Amino acid sequence: MDKMWSGRFSAGASNLLDQFNASIMYDRKLYREDIEGSLAHAAMLAKQGILTHEELKQIKEGLSQVQKEIESGEFEWKISDEDLHMGIEKRLTQLIGDTGKKLHTARSRNDQVAVDFRRYVLRKNLEIAEAIKLLMEAILEVANKHTETLIPGMTHLQHAQPINFGFHLGAYLSMFKRDVERFEISFARNNISPLGCAALAGTPHNVDREYTAELLGFDSVSVNCLDTVSDRDFALEILFNISTMMMHISRLSEELVMWSSYEFGFIELSDEYSTGSSIMPQKKNPDVPELLRGKTGRVYGALVGLLTVMKGLPLAYNKDTQEDKEGVFDAVETAEISLEILKEAIKTMQVKPQNMEKACAIGHLSATDLADYLVEKCGIPFREAHFITGRAVAKGEELGVDLSKMEFKDLKEIDDRIQEDVMEYLGLRHSMNARTSQGGTSSERTKEQLEYFKDYLNTDKES
Ligand code: ARG
Repeated sequence: MDKMWSGRFSAGASNLLDQFNASIMYDRKLYREDIEGSLAHAAMLAKQGILTHEELKQIKEGLSQVQKEIESGEFEWKISDEDLHMGIEKRLTQLIGDTGKKLHTARSRNDQVAVDFRRYVLRKNLEIAEAIKLLMEAILEVANKHTETLIPGMTHLQHAQPINFGFHLGAYLSMFKRDVERFEISFARNNISPLGCAALAGTPHNVDREYTAELLGFDSVSVNCLDTVSDRDFALEILFNISTMMMHISRLSEELVMWSSYEFGFIELSDEYSTGSSIMPQKKNPDVPELLRGKTGRVYGALVGLLTVMKGLPLAYNKDTQEDKEGVFDAVETAEISLEILKEAIKTMQVKPQNMEKACAIGHLSATDLADYLVEKCGIPFREAHFITGRAVAKGEELGVDLSKMEFKDLKEIDDRIQEDVMEYLGLRHSMNARTSQGGTSSERTKEQLEYFKDYLNTDKES
């Protein structure tokens, strides 16, 4: 009967219940947040005259001792203590005696866990945003080297128009920038203090919520206590942010897997970040991007899992909510290692521009350019130009040559209005560089885009 809440019980909890009910084996990860929260709460209680300054001093010393014990591995995490909040408070009371029992005045585990978990999530939003920026820098470095490197731009995974590799990577920079913003916005939106909400309805004690909010680095104090103790939107948000980021990572990973195949041969992953096969000696497998693609699944699982836990919960705190942590911890760790390893894989991969350019000579990538030529230079309506170009492509197929390599006389045969200057339009580099509209693939426009990302990453460093 050593439970903190054992007053109204006459029999002790069964072992089975302890096993089932406890979160201490995983929520102990929040020990720093928990101790900081308690320090802020105690400081506020003392300021308000609810604790004496001597009591505050004892609590501070006691908590610092607890922290030392946790960090040295001495602390005994016991399943019978249920969660870290009670484990820490119990140890504090052992260390400093009855004063330890006063710490929980005007507080409940409901607002305590909301503070701890929210602060962990807030911190992770910012840390992940920083890690994404490092990945962006690695991508930017490769992109800068390849603004002239032709690669087939695809739609439906079919060759469509020639673009450059820097432009292709620029698309991922755009995605990752949105991810950074998403994490930062979540931080800003959720940086609100739950402390002082107590169990669900606030407290009759004369607490100063603004004060604890400030001590803990929150921007403001939550408006409605009933909502605050049951709100897990911040956790759902980081799961959504991570899911979207992993979706982007998995798209890039899919391309890395394809590009490193013999069929593409656009890149080669470094030996350091590739694996061999246990049976086929010749193999070099892209396990890193494959696992990144695969790990996206477990992160989605965590998001859908928590959405499902929260669905239909009546107000306010319900124990169901304890299921919020493991999925978030796992998703956060997955995000962190994924960002790190993808960055390294990109930094160390070898790009093969020749193979990329060779691939552009298949699939009549400059067909749209011929149609544009017919419109621009010959005054032919686009639909008709589209049809004539289709015939030119068919002729190329018949002759076994790509449109970009076709001879003038063969084109002239298809439509007499075609003049010699058409040849320039059919060149692949010309085609890529012709796309000069804002955000387009021409080397100049690509450089402009990459400059934009460079500025974005630098401004951030300066501020
Ligand atoms: N371990 C609990 C959780 O993670 C802490 C809050 C418990 N509150 C309660 N009234 N049982 O949600």
